[in-house]
Amino acid sequence: MKYRIVALGTLATALLALGSLGSGCGTREARTAQNPPPRLYQMSELAKAMEDMYQANIAFRDALNQGFGVDSIPDFFYTIHTAKPTTGKETDALYHAMADVFIEKMEAVVRQPIEMQPAAFNEMVDACVACHQQKCQGPIPRINKLRVTETGSR
Ligand code: HEC
Repeated sequence: MKYRIVALGTLATALLALGSLGSGCGTREARTAQNPPPRLYQMSELAKAMEDMYQANIAFRDALNQGFGVDSIPDFFYTIHTAKPTTGKETDALYHAMADVFIEKMEAVVRQPIEMQPAAFNEMVDACVACHQQKCQGPIPRINKLRVTETGSR
């Protein structure tokens, strides 16, 4: 296991974080649901909004898996258009176009009757992944875990 070194302690983790992991888009093994990204680097406003969105969507996923609906979208989701990204990452026209698609999908979840929400929610997750494939591949395995699994009939 090549990256076993992270288990040796925070120093090794810090060195990895300051090196290739810097932006939070890295693909190293250290970034998994069990072992979230090291927080020793300064997170950008956008990275922070993304992490918060990730956490909020875990709560939505769990609610949907239990048969509850999602009735509103937290306001900060809309800050993905304006939050400042990590230096060197740009929120260009493609980014904003994909952010619009994502917001539309998220709004579509809320508009659905409860029984349609799981499928709509998973389409929203597809929109997270679509942008990440272009802009920030590292978190994709974590994002895929947001999918609702209980999409059968209720
Ligand atoms: C329009 C493009 C786009 C969409 C849509 C998008 N992201 Fe991101 N995401 C990014 C970019 C760009 C970054 C890197 C931000 C930075 O480094 O400043 C990022 C970073 C992240 C990170 C890593 C933050 C860190 O540094 O620790 C996570 C986790 C994340 N996004 C989750 C999500 C989730 C979950 C969704 C959907 C609910 C989502 N993203 C939707 C573009 C997007």
